[in-house]
Amino acid sequence: MSGAARGAFISFEGIDGSGKSTQARLLADTLRAQGRDVVLTREPGGSPGAEEIRRLVLEGDPDRWSAETEILLFTAARRDHLEKTIRPALVAGKIVITDRFADSTRLYQGITRGDLRETVDRLHALMIGVEPDLTFIIDMDPGVGLARALARKGTEERFEAFGEPMQARMRAGFLALAAEFPARSVVIDGARPKDAVAAEIAGIAEGRLG
Ligand code: TYD
Repeated sequence: MSGAARGAFISFEGIDGSGKSTQARLLADTLRAQGRDVVLTREPGGSPGAEEIRRLVLEGDPDRWSAETEILLFTAARRDHLEKTIRPALVAGKIVITDRFADSTRLYQGITRGDLRETVDRLHALMIGVEPDLTFIIDMDPGVGLARALARKGTEERFEAFGEPMQARMRAGFLALAAEFPARSVVIDGARPKDAVAAEIAGIAEGRLG
């Protein structure tokens, strides 16, 4: 986002089970302990309307929606999240940390069922038009990530149900996105103790925030 006085926008991305949700929370804790004003949020969701859409997209049969319909639903959720949560916080000078943002749609909807990346990008340009200042991509072996994600066993398993070959493609896809957006992307090795991962992330974030 460009324009007047504003905070900082940080996203966490990675395959299911990569530990990004934990790391997003730990970074929020660290920055708050320094007296910074942090809004920790997530996608799909992060606003009341977007949380309703979350249930529609994450629960139920894996074939419930086509990839195209999902692009519309995730983008609708993101638009509401942006209007109601992200933009007001940034305008107020806060740090917004989101667990997933548009990079997830670029991959999960953009490559899992055919090449729909251009559709994702066009809708993003039309309806969202905002990228994070800093994106942490938590990299992880796809088998380990999937095992962790399945061990949690919730009702939100539509995407975990795609299986390990897809997780491997997603991992490669996230690394390719990091190369595509080098100015904002940092790849973090997630296969280490969580405190070590958190310390590296906090150091990088503090460096960028000044
Ligand atoms: P998330 O709650 O981050 O689950 P996890 O902690 O297991 O990673 O995300 C839920 C699922 O939603 C995840 O499988 C990825 C998927 N997703 C998309 O397919 N497209 C999107 O645009 C977003 C934000 C998430």
